[in-house]
Amino acid sequence: MAAERTLILFKPDAVQRRLCGRLLTRIEERGLKIVGLKMLQVTPELSREHYAEHVEKPFYPQLEEFITSAPVIALCVEGPEAIQVMRGMMGKTNGRESAPGTIRGDYGVSRQMNLIHGSDGPEAAAREIGIYFSDSELFDYDPTLAPWTC
Ligand code: TYD
Ligand code: MG
Repeated sequence: MAAERTLILFKPDAVQRRLCGRLLTRIEERGLKIVGLKMLQVTPELSREHYAEHVEKPFYPQLEEFITSAPVIALCVEGPEAIQVMRGMMGKTNGRESAPGTIRGDYGVSRQMNLIHGSDGPEAAAREIGIYFSDSELFDYDPTLAPWTC
């Protein structure tokens, strides 16, 4: 099956609550491949670009305040149907409605501070990966074999 890439953010609450290691472990243990990773500060301008579809919505000002309140960790994650696999792992937008076993359902009860962003479709993934990563920051490597025992 063809590999697909998606853009993931560990949001400020995940960074501040020191949950990034756990979230990364879940992604790796699921079998997905990390092909890009960085920490950055989201600016208001970057927030408006990322959340272009939400800029006019009533919740946007608070969303911008939150997403710019501390650094985020951005990842590009690759695997078969990685977009939907990650959306499933994330759970519903509102932590209170997210099932146990999902990231949002296991670690939060907030609708806004919901720990993780994941692209919601192939077009969004391509656009969002381009916002956060240049080509030289994305890596193609063999995920199966490493000479551990040399
Ligand atoms: P959305 O893209 O609808 O959710 P998701 O992150 O699950 O794709 O909304 C983007 C973010 O905006 C969402 O993660 C949390 C925030 N948000 C609110 O604060 N209030 C709201 O009513 C909604 C719909 C979203
Ligand atoms: Mg969304």
